[in-house]
Amino acid sequence: MSLPPSSFTVGSPLPVGSLPPVGIDRLGLATPSYRLPMSVLSDARQTPLRKYLVGLGQEQMGVLAPDEDIITLAANAAREALSGENLDNLHSIVLATESGIDQSKAGSLFVHRLLGLPSTCMAYELKQACCSSTVALQNALQTVALNPSKKVLVVASDVARYGFQTPGEPTQGAGAVAILVSAHPRLLVTGLASGQHTEELSDFWRPNYMDTAVVDGKYSIRVYLRALEEAFARYHQTTGLALRDFARFCFHLPFTKMGDKAYHQLLRHGVGAEEVEAAPETQLVPGQLYNRLTGNTYTASLPLSLMSMLENDPTDLTGSRLGLFSYGSGSMGIFFSGIVQDGYRDALFAETHRKQLKTRPALDLATYERWFDRAKPNENGDLTTELITTGSFRFAGMEGHRRVYEPTSKPAVTNSSAVAVI
Ligand code: CAA
Repeated sequence: MSLPPSSFTVGSPLPVGSLPPVGIDRLGLATPSYRLPMSVLSDARQTPLRKYLVGLGQEQMGVLAPDEDIITLAANAAREALSGENLDNLHSIVLATESGIDQSKAGSLFVHRLLGLPSTCMAYELKQACCSSTVALQNALQTVALNPSKKVLVVASDVARYGFQTPGEPTQGAGAVAILVSAHPRLLVTGLASGQHTEELSDFWRPNYMDTAVVDGKYSIRVYLRALEEAFARYHQTTGLALRDFARFCFHLPFTKMGDKAYHQLLRHGVGAEEVEAAPETQLVPGQLYNRLTGNTYTASLPLSLMSMLENDPTDLTGSRLGLFSYGSGSMGIFFSGIVQDGYRDALFAETHRKQLKTRPALDLATYERWFDRAKPNENGDLTTELITTGSFRFAGMEGHRRVYEPTSKPAVTNSSAVAVI
């Protein structure tokens, strides 16, 4: 199929042969202040703990406090990724999420104000389930390739909600990863190549009138694996790269066992499968460690796996090629890759992240269940929330239907009467 020729021309041809080595410069993380251990859920739901730990590969899930949401997470992650940056060079801040807080206004505008970003920096939001962060990353790479003095911040922020006693409940979670894209990336040179697979189907979605997802779990796993196989085949057609060319793999991880399934799918059906042997402990597991502790973070899941790989792999990965697969229900799969840069460890926040994940207090079941129902504003659109978060920004409530966010200038109340920790 071809479209009629355009009746206008835009500027001169682009110098495609001289594009700079664009990629990921920094990765910032934010998790909710609290966590629910799977042991608490397994007792409550009378399910063997082994099913969660081994069958799904999840140990904990992040749980948002009433004064936390995807915006406070996004602002915390963005602040870390932008530390030490000249903000005047920021071209745009893009929020990738499927937990949007408004049908019209981009959530990144709130982050823009909280971080004091310049008015020259654009702010918008992008959606295609969990893979909108990868679409935003690809757009950002192209923007930076054409404007090498500029940087783009992609912030993936989400809360995964299925509801009590559903099969999806143990795969819930929340978190945000901010990805700073530049033409002199300190972490990963990705280039612009990718392989895609897109088809309309209904495996997982959330209608506007619901605050939990609808999912056909087993079907969603099948179509994820199909999208992976197709996207990888197209990536091979475009780049000539085969399985032997990848030192490590990071996948979208709705639960970390999905990474095992994806890895073995590639080793069974990927181009060059007969030349490589499975080594999941080396090629896969370091990229699953953080996701085991956060639960599903939807758009943030793949960048979190990448962060986990870079921060926890004991081998010096300098010069290695990492294969990355992003899946968004509904559905779209994208395979791409990146080469780890010399000195990458100095550009990470590994110690801070490990501490952040380790020191979150554990909730009891009653608090987790109470917090699941988000407070609604009164008929005037007003709402006040108690200070509970331990993060740098909080959702203070609503005034006349306007959401109010503020820095947490007061010390955090981790053991207030509203929080029962175990
Ligand atoms: N000890 C060890 N393992 C056990 C066990 C035990 N006692 N009991 C069960 N298991 C294993 C099962 O054998 C199974 O393993 P395999 O998949 O390797 O066969 C695993 O635990 C899961 O158990 P079930 O098959 O009984 O599945 P379930 O009914 O609990 O549902 C699920 C699992 C479908 C993933 C469900 O949690 C779900 O619907 N999750 C949400 C949807 C989802 O995450 N889909 C992923 C693809 S879509 C996507 O990626 C987008 C996104 O982010 C949502």
